[in-house]
Amino acid sequence: MGFKDEIKRRRTFGIISHPDAGKTTLTEKLLLFGGAIQEAGAVKSNKIKKGATSDFMEIERQRGISVATSVLAFIYKDKKINILDTPGHKDFAEDTFRTLTAVDSVIVVIDVAKGVEEQTEKLVKVCRMRKIPIIVFINKLDREGKDAFDLLDEVEQKLGLKVTPLSFPIGMGYDFKGIYNIWEKNINLFEGDSRKNIEETIAFSDIESKELDTIVGEKAANRLREELELVYEIYPDFDREAYLKGDLQPVFFGSALNNFGVRELLDCFIEIAPTPRPKDSDTRLVNPDEDVFSGFVFKIHANMDPKHRDRIAFVKIVSGTFEKNKPYLHVRQGKKMKFSSPNAFFAEKKEIVDISYAGDIVGLHDTGNFKIGDTLTEGEGMNFKGIPSFSPEHFRYINNADPLKSKQLEKGIDQLMDEGVAQLFTLEMNGRKVIGTVGALQYEVIQYRLEHEYGAKCTYENFPAYKACWVKPKDSKNEEFAEFKRVKQKFLGHDKYGQLVFLADSEFSIQMTQQKYPSVELFFTSDFRIT
Ligand code: G4P
Repeated sequence: MGFKDEIKRRRTFGIISHPDAGKTTLTEKLLLFGGAIQEAGAVKSNKIKKGATSDFMEIERQRGISVATSVLAFIYKDKKINILDTPGHKDFAEDTFRTLTAVDSVIVVIDVAKGVEEQTEKLVKVCRMRKIPIIVFINKLDREGKDAFDLLDEVEQKLGLKVTPLSFPIGMGYDFKGIYNIWEKNINLFEGDSRKNIEETIAFSDIESKELDTIVGEKAANRLREELELVYEIYPDFDREAYLKGDLQPVFFGSALNNFGVRELLDCFIEIAPTPRPKDSDTRLVNPDEDVFSGFVFKIHANMDPKHRDRIAFVKIVSGTFEKNKPYLHVRQGKKMKFSSPNAFFAEKKEIVDISYAGDIVGLHDTGNFKIGDTLTEGEGMNFKGIPSFSPEHFRYINNADPLKSKQLEKGIDQLMDEGVAQLFTLEMNGRKVIGTVGALQYEVIQYRLEHEYGAKCTYENFPAYKACWVKPKDSKNEEFAEFKRVKQKFLGHDKYGQLVFLADSEFSIQMTQQKYPSVELFFTSDFRIT
């Protein structure tokens, strides 16, 4: 198979959801279809158990699992499917945001009873901003839940999507009879048995046929007919172009736990989901089927063994092929590097491979050369765009608690920031360091890892900030900018790239600043830096 055909058969995506909606269960069922695992229960949940925020064993366990499940790959109907893991826990949301820069599409899982939840809203917002194609899977149909139409409304309202159902439930919960597959025009009857033969679907192109009454009962059959009529009336026909542009989102219903509606989802997914997509760089748009290799680092994971400080950098291949022992340019450092043991990922294991293709993820052993967002090429001096830092939501001063270990502390902080565990801001006024995180849990992770991996100790002190706003003056020499810097002196710092940041203490303060200094632009992600 030529390398262009290899690329065309790749589907790289992420599953996102609010915790407990069924992401792990769905992932596992998808892997079962690919024959990548043999039994249910093989995919370990990477959830942090409730109430375990102070349990360091739990944090370590989570880190271990997230290396193992960072990329789960399998072959299904000759397509190479790469599922990128996205942590559901909100304290690790930044990790998920970054992973979304490496996916070509996503599946959003929603719990039929709970509807659209907070974490789903946040993640879908990022997908919408990036025009990532989205398929919605409404899960747990074996339980009582919201009415299908109400739920579709909620998805449109809360997530700002334009949906079109490609399947529709026949009843729900106790009365759940099965699913009418609008896409394939067939019916899948629910038997509540996860070992059910997956081929057992009944083709049904004419739902007016009396046979439907015999199969699901007259009442359910009539209701389905009425509901489908409404579906065809209210929702637009599926249009692949609109889906690929992020303008239309197909919806499937099912029950991951019962392996119900999953095969239908997967079969449709491999047909409609995008092959590896082109990606923008600071100089040009890069197409996957270009002959030369390019890729970028979207995730860095520290080795679990504290004695060896090497890490794994996860690289999404944007174009061409990545080959073992071939020299590639690390653009930011301007140096050529070779990799003798690039890892590729299959289901739950990783293996050293000679060649990987655009769309794939390779794991490279790293001794501290990479930062998140770094670009690798065959020599071209370009940088991929769009791996932003989002404003943290918690801010604390970090203090050295062991003066003899200040070097270790500095190195530790530096490396943990490169990994993207948190963001560091250095205050302009006095050089003090402030750590910003998405969740409070990160402070414990940092303290624990500094001590165990770097032998350094730290303490924290509250820093009264509410949001980090990246600052870009329209004119850095004008009086307004000089006054802004004078007045806000105490709240100004620099991020790790030296970019000026305003650490605002309230929404009010942000609004006042915007009114008073209109020529000083404030940004809530660092995206503008690279766009
Ligand atoms: P997550 O990764 O999105 O956080 O969710 P996960 O798959 O772990 O699922 C959360 C809970 O929901 C699990 O139950 C799981 O068994 C259940 N679940 C998933 N899909 C379905 C479904 O289609 N129907 C029903 N009824 N339940 C479903 P748990 O009790 O929290 O965990 P476990 O002890 O079963 O592992």
